[in-house]
Order: sequence, then structure tokens, then C-alpha cells
Amino acid sequence: MRPKKPMLRALAGERLPVPPVWLMRQAGRYLPEYRAVRAQAGSFLDLCYRPELAAEVTLQPIRRYGFDAAILFADILLVPQALGAELRFAEGEGPRLSTVTGAGDLARLKPADAIHERLGPVYETVARVVAELPPETALIGFAGAPWTVATYMIAGRGTPDQAPARMLLYRDPATFDALIERITDATIRYLLRQIEAGAEAVKLFDSWAGALPGPLFGRYCIEPARRIVAAIRAAHPSVPVIGFPRGAGGGYAAFAAATGVDCCALDAAVDPAWAAAEIQPRLCVQGNLDPLLLVAGGPALDEATRACVAAFSGGPHVFNLGHGITPDAAPANVERMLAVIRG
Ligand code: CP3
Repeated sequence: MRPKKPMLRALAGERLPVPPVWLMRQAGRYLPEYRAVRAQAGSFLDLCYRPELAAEVTLQPIRRYGFDAAILFADILLVPQALGAELRFAEGEGPRLSTVTGAGDLARLKPADAIHERLGPVYETVARVVAELPPETALIGFAGAPWTVATYMIAGRGTPDQAPARMLLYRDPATFDALIERITDATIRYLLRQIEAGAEAVKLFDSWAGALPGPLFGRYCIEPARRIVAAIRAAHPSVPVIGFPRGAGGGYAAFAAATGVDCCALDAAVDPAWAAAEIQPRLCVQGNLDPLLLVAGGPALDEATRACVAAFSGGPHVFNLGHGITPDAAPANVERMLAVIRG
């Protein structure tokens, strides 16, 4: 059966006269209604684990803007926490986790099938959102890709160059590979449960793919993604997968060709003309407006939005940013961008 929702039609390879649109981090601090619910929840993690509040913030940007897709409100770091890592979000500092620096730390992590003990509220959020979503809007579930999740588990925080993860990879490859294996297994189980709860598409965020040295890109970005896609395809053949190997540069072509994803999400550094020629003939592309334009606004926003739509008008395209919308973006600029896209 062919899908009816515009988002799912594009992911299935259909070229639409107006591209479906949603934004990474669309439920976030740039929205006053998000900040209000976030304050009510107390902490970011409490918000993630309270289904009624997480469902509410997931739906806020849909009500305000009528986006073609909602994305589950959660975080990629809930999986490490479910595997037994300690996790907190220090106000204004980003995430802090207990670290994995050797075989001993790995041995203390839980098995992949234990994650559901902690992640039950996330699946409940999915079910609540599905029940309230407008009929034309699709729900996207997501997870972090193994390499990106591993970079946080190893360093215990965000780093500019992922040096701690690369160091473990060089010095203790057995532990590193076992960690990637554990996260891959957990990610498959996590995404399958989201789909069973009602997610209609899933997205794999490899936000630090660009930090992988070229010779290791295949092994630690493409290969885990390929396994995750294959497992989802085997269980749920009609659920599309979006892959986002952010910063992959020339690696995007191999990623698109080898992972089996239905859609490749492009960061803002990718030249749309290149992607239209090299990736779009094979599969749907998503992206890739510079998020700063939603802070800048004005004619620069109009022109770049028009250019992005035009560049990808020859094939299946989901309009999005090249990375998440930032807290200083103006809600009115999102309105302005939508007016240009939808005419
Ligand atoms: O896109 C959405 O609207 C859905 C929800 C979502 C969040 N995080 C909510 C969030 C998604 C899909 C993510 C993914 C995520 N989380 C990634 C991959 C995508 C990317 O941005 O590259 C990464 C690397 C993380 C880890 C993470 N979460 C960091 C580094 C931070 C702190 C930085 C920051 O922006 O504050 C978070 C916190 C976070 N995740 C917030 C939100 C709305 C802000 C927290 C708050 O409200 O205080």
C-alpha cells in the first residue's frame, strides 16, 4: 500500500510539488511554550521521562506551524543511561556521563535487552503522540548512531574532536568494538519498540560522523547503520529509515549507497547541486538550510530557502535544516521560511 502522508510519500521516493517540512530540534528552547513545560518538568531528563509532558512538547511545534512530521521528544543519551551509564545535564553545560575507558567499565554496563526497563516511558510518549497527531502528520522516532553515542560514553561529555573515542579505538580496539556492538544491539531493540508503539519512520543521528578518520568511516559509521537498517527492514519492511551522517563530506555518497537508508539527511556544508546529482537519483534527501538563517531572518532567509527548494525540486526531498534549530532562533522566522516553501 502506498503511503498517504506527504512526509512518508517523500521518504518512499515520490517527488512532491511542495516538499514536506519539519525541523531538527523543532521542540526546543526557541519556543516560549517549550520553555514553560520545561520549567514545569524541572529538568530536561524529567521532561524526557514524563510521557504526558514529552508528548505535549512533541506536539507544540505541530500546533504552531503545521509541520509535516513530529519527532519524538527524547534524547540520544537515554540509551547509554538505559545501559547503566550515569547521566545528568548540567544547566548550560551540556551532558555529563560516567565514562567507558576500558574493559572493566564495559563489563559493568547492562546487556542490550535490559534497556526497556528504563525506556518504557519513551514508548508511552510515542503512543500518546500517535493518538493525538493530525491525520496528515507523520511521527518520526530516533536514536543516536553507535559511533556518536560511543563518543559521549567514552568521553563522558561532548568534545570538539572526539579525541577520547578515537584514542580508545586506537589503544584498546577490542573494548571499543565491543562497545559499538553493545550500542548497535541496544539501538535496534530501541527503534523496534518505538515502531511497535507507533513511530512511522525512524532517524539515526550520527552527529559526529565527520570526526571519524576516512579509513574508519566505513567500519564505524556505514557498517553499524547498515546493520540497524537491515534489522528494521526485516521486522518492519514498510518503515523508512533516515540516516544523518553529519559532516561526512565525500563519505555521504558511500553512506547513501551502502547503508540501505531510505533517506539521507544532509548537513549545511553539503552542496545541494552535488547531492541532487549524486544522491537524490538513488533516494530521498533531507535538508539542508543553515540553522543560522532562522536567527538572521530577512531576505537572506527567503533567498536561501527558495534556493534550497529549487536545488532539490527534481526528486524526492524533505525540507529541513542542516542541523538543529538553535535557542536564539526567532519563531517568526520559522513562519517566514514556511511561507516561502509553501507559497
Ligand atoms: O529534534 C527534536 O526536536 C527531538 C528531540 C531531540 C533532542 N535531542 C532534544 C534535546 C533530539 C532528536 C536530540 C538528539 C541529540 N541529542 C543529538 C543528535 C542531534 C544533534 O543535535 O546533533 C545529540 C548529539 C544529543 C545530545 C545532547 N542533548 C546535547 C549535546 C545536549 C546539550 C546541548 C543543548 O542543545 O543544550 C542535549 C540537550 C537537549 N536535547 C535539549 C533538547 C531540546 C536542550 C535541553 C534543554 O531543554 O535544556
